[in-house]
This record gives sequence, C-alpha cells and structure tokens, in this order.
Amino acid sequence: MVSRVIPVEPFDLIIFGGTGDLARRKILPALFRRYCAGQMPADARVIGAARSDMSRDDYRDMAAEALREFGGGRACEDGTVAGFLDRLDYVQVDARGEAGWEDLASLLGEPRIRAFYFSVSPDLFGDLAQRLTDHGLTHDQTRIVVEKPFGHDLDSAKALNTALAAHFVEEQVYRIDHYLGKETVQNLMAVRFGNVLFEPLWNSQFVDHIQITVAETVGVGGRGEYYDHAGAMRDMIQNHLMQLLCLIAMEPPAKFDPDAVRDEKLKVIRALDSVLPHHIVRGQYDAVAGDAEHQGYREAVNNPRSTTESYVALKAHISNWRWTGTPFYLRTGKRLVARSSVINVMFKKTPHSIFGLEAGGGPNILSIRLQPNEGITLAVTIKEPGPGGMRLIDVPLDMTFAEALGPEGEDPPDAYERLIMDVIRGNQTLFMRGDEVEAAWAWTDPIIAGWKARGDVPKPYDSFSIGPGDADELLRRDGRAWRGIKP
Ligand code: BG6
Repeated sequence: MVSRVIPVEPFDLIIFGGTGDLARRKILPALFRRYCAGQMPADARVIGAARSDMSRDDYRDMAAEALREFGGGRACEDGTVAGFLDRLDYVQVDARGEAGWEDLASLLGEPRIRAFYFSVSPDLFGDLAQRLTDHGLTHDQTRIVVEKPFGHDLDSAKALNTALAAHFVEEQVYRIDHYLGKETVQNLMAVRFGNVLFEPLWNSQFVDHIQITVAETVGVGGRGEYYDHAGAMRDMIQNHLMQLLCLIAMEPPAKFDPDAVRDEKLKVIRALDSVLPHHIVRGQYDAVAGDAEHQGYREAVNNPRSTTESYVALKAHISNWRWTGTPFYLRTGKRLVARSSVINVMFKKTPHSIFGLEAGGGPNILSIRLQPNEGITLAVTIKEPGPGGMRLIDVPLDMTFAEALGPEGEDPPDAYERLIMDVIRGNQTLFMRGDEVEAAWAWTDPIIAGWKARGDVPKPYDSFSIGPGDADELLRRDGRAWRGIKP
C-alpha cells in the first residue's frame, strides 16, 4: 500500500529551545522524515532559536548528530540528509531580554505560514508571546505550539491560557498531547465512527467495563527533578490517559472537525465523577536488589522521603446516559514488566447461554493496542473443534497493522510527524483546546489535594512487576481482573 503524501504550503517553523532535548529527539527527526516523504516544500525553513551562541553550521552539525542518534534515517536515500540540513538556520535569542529578536525578524522576512514552537519551560511562554508581538513577528498565519506540562494545576493552566490569550486567539494555539498523534489513537476514532458494528454496542447496556493501561519499563531516568514534582497523575493521567478516555467515551461528533471533536471530549471530562479515595491506588517502584543500574524511585529522584507516585490505578465513572454503570479503570506506571499501551473494551456476557455455563467462552473483548505491535483484536467465541459436545473457546479476530497494512503498518509515522504537519496545515483536531486542559485539571486537582491532606504514601512495588497488589484488589472487589500486561 502506498500512502498519498500531500505537500504542505511553504512555511517557517521556529523552534524556541531549538537545541533542547525535545528538538533533538523528536522535532528535528520528525521534520526530517516528513522531508524524506516529500511533504516539506522546497522553500520550507526550520529555524532553531535558543540562548547558546552558535553559528548556522554548528546548528546543522547538532541536527545531523540528532538525526543519527534518534533514528531520523528511515526511508531516506543517501544525500537527503544534506538536503534537509540546508533548510535549517539558527538564531541566538534571549527569551527574557532584547537580544536576537531583530535578527529573527530579518531572517523571517515576508509573511507566510509561521509556526513558533515553544519547546521551553512553561514559565517562558508569556515572555515569548510578548516579545513576538513587540517585535511585530506575528500575523494571521502565525501559530503557536506548546508542549505539556501545560500547567501543574488548574490555576497555573489558567494563567498560561491567559498569557497566551493576551496575544493570540485560540485558533492560533496548538497544545500538543503527543498521544493524539499516535496512529492507533486516531484509529480508535476510525474504528468507532467508520464502522456500523461497534457504535450500537458502545454503551453501558453492552459494555461491562473498560480498561486503559499505559505501562512503561523505563524509570524516571534523568528527569527526576521534574518528575518528583509531577508524579504519574500529572505526567500521564491528566493528559494522555484522559485523552484516551475521552476518545473512547465521547459521543459521535457531527463532523471530524476541531471544535466538533473537542466539544465532545470536553463533555466527557465534565461528566466525570470525583474519584473516591478508595478507588485510587498509588505506587512507587523499588530498586532491583544488587543491580546498581536499576535504582529505586527515591534514589533516582534523589529524594529519600519522596511521596510522589510513579504508578496510578483508578476507577472512574462517567455520569451520563451512555456510561452510567460502566466503570473505566485506568492505570499507568513506570518500571513495569513490559512496555504496553492498550485499551480493552470488555463487553458483557450474552444474556443467556444456550450451551450451558460449563461450555465456557466469552465475553467479547475489543483490544486496541497503541504500542508496541499496533493493532486491534476482537475476541470472539467459537466452537472448539472436534467431537464430544459443544465446548466454546475464544479466538482473536486479529487486525495487527503490520500484517493488515504491510510495511506502512509496521512502521507508522511518529506522533510528532503527524502533529507538526497538522500545525502547518492549520488543523487543530488533534490538539487540546484551553477549556479541555482546564477541565482535566479541575478533575485532577482534588485527587492530588486529597493525597496531600491525608498524608498519603504510595505503595512500594517491585521494579519490572505489574505494580502494587492493591491495584489488583481494586478490580477484584468488583469481581473483575486486569488483563495481563504483555509486550
Ligand atoms: C511523556 C511523559 O509525556 O510521555 C513521560 O512525560 C512518558 O514520562 C512518555 O514516558 C510516554 O510516551 P510514549 O510515547 O513513549 O508512550
């Protein structure tokens, strides 16, 4: 299968924090792959902007190194790296001062699509927005891209929204949640709304419960300082898992357009009940005994008394006509047994078994695997082959994308490729609107405040395990069990 690549209009993408980790790991490799795919027009430009004093050639060398290190080379022919690097430029700017802004202005020249990527700490968003306006760098084709963390609570998120709104209209602000750029996450909408099969069953009458698991094997790595102030609740649940929940639970939007989709997601967040303290489990990973490489959480963040969680499991309820009575169980954690992100829609049993309960089989499960091994599987009940009565077994109707779609399914584009091109195209469907982010914090804040007020301490769990035992108990109490975490 050959995908159709539609080139975007000529653009200037300016990356503030252009020498930083995100630029090197994600943004530059993603742009390079779009260049290789033929999507970047010949005169598109990417301009790194940062505090370091470096020349354009130094920046190109840094980018070449980043492409080597972070796998930008896929699908590119020899010689293309040089072609891509030719489009890169660099300007030294001071986000909080005056230095460099006039250089940037003269480099940009004629107005055309201009995307400013704020790949910097959120406390610089306001300064950058102000300076862009002061130096006349914005026009109606200007877009601002911001990354999470978008605030650390409702008040700080509101303050960021206000700082941006002082200079830009909402249609110019692209808040990235990279989970929305993942192929399978978009496929979730295609499966729900492109088929007649699922939607009639997509409610509490037929769905017993839904499990959303995002398990990681990595620890907090070098991000200890950030992470110890955030924890899994702010780092993963408030954004990535919340977005998955919204896409699973929302009503069909009338159109696949930005506000129609985001209106429906917002309604889901607003319909979420507060989470009861005994419906949530926090955990913190222990060291691997005798293995200096795999420190425990507290050593990794260099805070021996840290009470920040590296794991959360919770039960959420959505109070609306569609979902009342169907719990959503969410869990995410670091240093778990496998890297596996999957959504399991667990359907109810048939109302009556004509074969007798001892025949086995069922209920149906729709599994949407986000990573790795992207694909969708529907467990259906059939007869076990052979004589000797009617015994039922479950077999997967398997749509592993690598098998169903060939090479393209094997190597889907990285989330950032899709999202950056959507910024250039001016399509906000896969970006979070300001009110959505605020609603997500409004749901998250009381949970975190409750932990603080109660002096809650996370449960320790073994590294490379399935997490704290209490998370199993959370489902066992309801007569249910987590599906295994499989790579
Ligand atoms: C980031 C979190 O947003 O998502 C990280 O800050 C996490 O802690 C990462 O590891 C997971 O992303 P992915 O794409 O690897 O599942």
